[in-house]
Amino acid sequence: MEEEGGRLVAVECDCRELKLINTKLKFARIDQEFCGTMISDYKIKGYYKKESSIENAMICKKSASEYVRRFGEMKAKKKGLYFHSKRAGSGKTLLVSAIGNELIRRYKAQVRFATAGELLDAIRATYNKDSELKTHELIDAAKKVEVLIIDDLGQQKVKADTNDHLFDICNYRIKSDVVTIFSSNCKIEDLPYDYRIKSRIQRMAIPIQAPEESVRESLAERENEEVLDSLLTG
Ligand SMILES: Nc1ncnc2c1ncn2[C@@H]1O[C@H](COP(=O)(O)OP(=O)(O)O)[C@@H](O)[C@H]1O
Ligand SMILES: [Mg+2]
Repeated sequence: MEEEGGRLVAVECDCRELKLINTKLKFARIDQEFCGTMISDYKIKGYYKKESSIENAMICKKSASEYVRRFGEMKAKKKGLYFHSKRAGSGKTLLVSAIGNELIRRYKAQVRFATAGELLDAIRATYNKDSELKTHELIDAAKKVEVLIIDDLGQQKVKADTNDHLFDICNYRIKSDVVTIFSSNCKIEDLPYDYRIKSRIQRMAIPIQAPEESVRESLAERENEEVLDSLLTG
């Protein structure tokens, strides 16, 4: 209760608001594959072969761990991170998930994680008149959540409502003490969205080049070599 003009009025406390945001974004969770992943699980030696990939991976890892360490300052600056590389399998989802997990573990931060496609589809699902959640309620939660991780930005087909929803979410988040962490297969300037969205993302997140090399492929290669080796020798 709070006094307002001599009257006592009920106000929502922070924790109630936090719970409401979590409920509305309950679909937005870190993928099971990465649910316990930490930044130390992002390996470099033996995982990337090209010199340029090793250099990029070192910058990615260092910026991720420093970002977690200086989270309070980054939040006050309203700055997130934007990891990009054209190559799939290069560790972007692993890295953004690890940052999310560490922010939860170290600061009990409120973290929600979704691919851009999942987020937009969830918003579209609310257009249905039978939907439990109203469109503005879900968008409101995406605007206010303390840490929003948007994976695979720019990878989905742009539909009629895409620009409006992304603009609405980014335009609110850029002005609040919340942060957004993105992964994408393209640079911010090459995103298939309106300039008004790209210019906001440019301000709200620091772009970082992720390696242009697939760890998934080299892991598969290594595994197959080991199995073949054991078939031939064992
Ligand atoms: N630096 C890394 N250290 C350890 N495993 C990695 C690394 N990069 C990628 N992987 C593994 O390779 C696979 C693909 O990584 P992912 O993060 O999904 O790539 P991207 O999101 O860039 O497509 C995952 O199984 C992940 O665990
Ligand atoms: Mg990915």
